Amino acid sequence: MKAITVYGDKNDPRLVWEDVADIDFKDDEVLVEVRATAVNRADLSQARGNYPPPPGASDILGLEMAGTIRAAGVNVVDWRPGDRVCALLPGGGYAERVAVPAGMLLRLPDDWTFAQGAAVPEVWYTAYINLFDEGQLKAGETALIHAGASGVGTAAIQLALDAGARAIATAGSEKKVAFCRELGATAINYKTQDFLVEVMAATGGQGVDVILDPVGGSYLARNVAALRRFGRLVNIGLLGGAKGELNMGQVLGKRLRIVGSTLRARPAAEKIAITHRFAAEVMPKLADGRLRPIVDTSFPIEQAQAAHEYVLTNRNIGKVILELP
Ligand SMILES: NC(=O)c1ccc[n+]([C@@H]2O[C@H](COP(=O)([O-])OP(=O)(O)OC[C@H]3O[C@@H](n4cnc5c(N)ncnc54)[C@H](OP(=O)(O)O)[C@@H]3O)[C@@H](O)[C@H]2O)c1
Repeated sequence: MKAITVYGDKNDPRLVWEDVADIDFKDDEVLVEVRATAVNRADLSQARGNYPPPPGASDILGLEMAGTIRAAGVNVVDWRPGDRVCALLPGGGYAERVAVPAGMLLRLPDDWTFAQGAAVPEVWYTAYINLFDEGQLKAGETALIHAGASGVGTAAIQLALDAGARAIATAGSEKKVAFCRELGATAINYKTQDFLVEVMAATGGQGVDVILDPVGGSYLARNVAALRRFGRLVNIGLLGGAKGELNMGQVLGKRLRIVGSTLRARPAAEKIAITHRFAAEVMPKLADGRLRPIVDTSFPIEQAQAAHEYVLTNRNIGKVILELP
């Protein structure tokens, strides 16, 4: 089969679509013909040697895909060859074929493209588990969503609003701010405004209940200051570095919780449980259009390198898709 192989080095990874060894599948897995996959920040780090795949996972890039089942293992009962599916993967999505445990599959709505399917698993699961499991966001509360126009951010804004919460988003350009507003968030351009000042103004000085934060160190002090009593800070990334200043007086006095959360490192059984809950609670709303995956651009998989550049330079609103022939 063909897949993306990474050549070059840390500073200059080169992604090449070429022949690689074919793959096999186990009795409780299906073999999927991949038609679309998507670029995640983790792929950029992995291509630079900074984010090795978890033990047992494929070393091919790609944390999600959509495609058609080609064959099913003998223990698989609910899925058949020809079914259109998408799934979260621990790796291996940038390839013509991938083996997926049956418990990880989501059925694609009939009127969806493969690009729409590939835009869902990684960022929608991330937004879902971190807002509601880790962040315990409830109706009537307010969530601050940093990188609001990102893949995760555009999903999180929609999920927070759908749950009856208010969403305040930050983004780095007027175009991205306008898009967050279109989705229904109160939006702040963090490059021209201080998000802490704006969040306090927008909440009558109260602050927010939950922060979904992919930025980390450079936002830590202001995130903690922006939380109201019993607030929850859920960190999912380190775009702004790993180190920051923490005022423990505020953590103690406001009885805050600070949580770090990763999806990829979770055990398979936990990911299957998330998939089942997502299929029951969120997928029907995506299927009927109450929620929508946001796709910015699609590139042919042969242009994966250009797609990585596009994401690295923060040009996307929502997801960047790689389409296979
Ligand atoms: N923990 C997990 O399980 C998990 C899972 C999935 C994703 N993530 C993380 O969540 C984040 C979002 O993922 P994604 O795929 O949705 O990303 P994405 O679509 O690539 O968007 C990321 C956006 O973050 C903003 N950004 C970049 N550097 C920044 C900085 N230093 N300070 C503030 N904003 C910055 C940029 O938007 P602006 O133009 O608005 O600055 C950029 O477009 C990434 O950090 C990713 O690694 C974590």
